[in-house]
Amino acid sequence: MKIVMIGAGYVGLVSGACFAEFGCDVTCVDTNKKKIKDLKNGRIPIYEPGLEELVKRNVSKGTLKFESNLSEAMSLSEIIFIAVGTPARRGDGHADLKYVYEVAKEIGQNLDGYKLIVNKSTVPVGTAREVKRIINKVNRNAYFDVASNPEFLREGSAIDDFMNPDRIIIGVDSDSAEEKLKKLYSKLVDNGAPILCTNLESSELIKYASNAFLATKISFINEISHLSEITGGDITEISKGMGLDQRIGDKFLDAGPGYGGSCFPKDTLALIRICQESGSSSRIVEAVVEVNAAQKARMVKKIRQSLDGSENNKKIAIFGLTFKPGTDDMRDAPSLSILPPLIDKGAIINAHDPQGLKEASDLLPQEINFYTNIYESISGADAIVLMTEWEDYRDLDYEKILNIMKGNTIIDLRNFYNPKKMQKIGFKYHSVGR
Ligand code: NAD
Ligand code: UGA
Repeated sequence: MKIVMIGAGYVGLVSGACFAEFGCDVTCVDTNKKKIKDLKNGRIPIYEPGLEELVKRNVSKGTLKFESNLSEAMSLSEIIFIAVGTPARRGDGHADLKYVYEVAKEIGQNLDGYKLIVNKSTVPVGTAREVKRIINKVNRNAYFDVASNPEFLREGSAIDDFMNPDRIIIGVDSDSAEEKLKKLYSKLVDNGAPILCTNLESSELIKYASNAFLATKISFINEISHLSEITGGDITEISKGMGLDQRIGDKFLDAGPGYGGSCFPKDTLALIRICQESGSSSRIVEAVVEVNAAQKARMVKKIRQSLDGSENNKKIAIFGLTFKPGTDDMRDAPSLSILPPLIDKGAIINAHDPQGLKEASDLLPQEINFYTNIYESISGADAIVLMTEWEDYRDLDYEKILNIMKGNTIIDLRNFYNPKKMQKIGFKYHSVGR
């Protein structure tokens, strides 16, 4: 099958490379010329485990190509995926659909012969029909179907998530679209992935409802972590105890500094706007967003209190800046909300991250000192804050760390370390909800 993937970002590049891996002929198209030039030269613009090997393998097989010109790529394709960004619109939090609509217009202008146009971007309910309307408007002879196929991969485990999905959702309003997408995904379905076929609207809503539900689990456990902390509980035991109930499940119940990333923050806000515009209520999601902001603010207070009430002139080493391990993505990372208020109150920040330093240095205050060596980052530090649970921070030489640091405080915002072990080594150990 010949596929065009429009947008070669986290979703487009991973899905494009995975489709190529299971035998499709894929061309990824992106308006970012530098990205396409880099990809053509074998440079992968993002960090995602396993992606470089996957891309290189399929480029050398000839099944994966990169182009900046859509019309050329489109002419030989059967299926065109839209995987461009849908960021929060500045000011009102609505999903900004300008990239999706631009692509729809461009597709319309270049359509010749039947094509299936599949939206993989996360978009408000009604967008597939709007894409259809735009294409029909710019090309009255257009012969096409539109489908919705939301993506559920996570950064850091994107390839495995794509290749072994919990489910494949396809929203269609024609039999031929359903047939083509079922054929496209047949290898994954043969491997046991459930495929659910819905109408366009349900498919679009499944994506937002899923992300909002996962964000709800996180905000719920974060709120309980505060209660646990005040009353002497241990949130890791509470999560475990809750998760053993199969109706609840143990996933996404890890308390932390609040969810971040390119999706939960923007998708929860977008869902609230979608509800408002459709005249339905969104009280739970509103609370989820509020609790998440409060959790980040609470982490600033926790760090301050752990430093005897003031961060002024204290040197704090930060372990991890990205929103989660396994990615260089800094979009809405908790570090972006937690570090500036500490700097405002006079903290000196030394920061380390295994993959995100370049992205982080563009977004964080200039006063931060960035380190590529973990041990250098803690020299003379009063405290260490573990912000992101990269495995790189697991088996460190903690005796050595205590010697290099000035103080002995560790504030573990991910409950990554064993409290007793850290206390035994000689640390004043603080964590979340225990
Ligand atoms: P991204 O910003 O990494 O990539 C989007 C790409 O689209 C960019 O490279 C950009 O240059 C390109 N682009 C923009 N306009 C274009 C145009 N007119 N023609 C061609 N290319 C164009 O975004 P992403 O993280 O890959 O997310 C894409 C969509 O997938 C979003 O809707 C997001 O919510 C959703 N999603 C993301 C993830 C994730 O883990 N990042 C997971 C599931 C769903
Ligand atoms: C999330 C969803 O998990 C994917 O299914 C979805 O496709 C994607 O959003 C999307 O729509 O873009 P992602 O943002 O890559 O994926 O990463 P997650 O693993 O979901 O983590 C999101 C945030 O929640 C991170 O900041 C993480 O640290 C935090 N988190 C996660 C917690 O604080 N506790 C948890 O128990 C789990």
